[in-house]
Amino acid sequence: MQHRIRRPIVAGNWKMNGNAALVGEMQQALESQQFENVSVVVCPPLTYLGTMQSDTFSLGAQNTSDKASGAYTGETSLSMLQECAVEYVIVGHSERREYYAENDQVVAAKVAAVLEAGLTPIFCIGESEQVRDAGKLFEFLASQIDAVLNIIGINAFANVVIAYEPIWAIGTGKTATPEQAQEVHAFIRQHIAKQNGEIAEKMQILYGGSVNGGNAQSIFSQPDVDGGLVGGASLKPNDFITICLAANELR
Ligand code: 13P
Repeated sequence: MQHRIRRPIVAGNWKMNGNAALVGEMQQALESQQFENVSVVVCPPLTYLGTMQSDTFSLGAQNTSDKASGAYTGETSLSMLQECAVEYVIVGHSERREYYAENDQVVAAKVAAVLEAGLTPIFCIGESEQVRDAGKLFEFLASQIDAVLNIIGINAFANVVIAYEPIWAIGTGKTATPEQAQEVHAFIRQHIAKQNGEIAEKMQILYGGSVNGGNAQSIFSQPDVDGGLVGGASLKPNDFITICLAANELR
């Protein structure tokens, strides 16, 4: 039975962590569970995508090229990801924006390419501590959303998942409070609703930043939080399952 208007998603972003042993361990652990009310997504490093396969969870890539093919050394195309049964692609993670110079234009081109390929982008946005402290939180997030919205158009947002990941909460153990997450998620939904209320109402908005087995339930139970994008805790099968079950049991 579906309990919420929007089906929750829990996506595990392994980043550049894990190994072949963890692939096997995670696959086995997840397959011992039943996730009726949550879509579970595992995003391991690229080299493991071809070796993971399951009816219990979906596969996600951590990045993609926006180009179809050609002389782009080191890049991977969406058709290649599709051959590995990838369904979701994380785009615009703050680590890619910071370390690999992905600006709003690059992120918009990638979101457009993922949609064009028929896959689901997990489009990441989030502010630094400085932006928040300067009182520019909403202005900043609106500009990150608009950079993509202006390129792909509002109708395409029907197939986009947004992940709100405050940079100050990533890998720091300093989670946004459930109230802080709810405030921002409601803002994001209202911002989209200015263009199309129906699309905004159906859009899944995930929270990311130090989600763990202990705090997932309280964050996910906020009305505008539709699950999470999990880093560190997604590398530990038991913790990740606890988080997935917290979303599975939402009412
Ligand atoms: P942590 O859960 O390790 O804070 O990472 C969050 C994240 O960046 C997921 O994409």
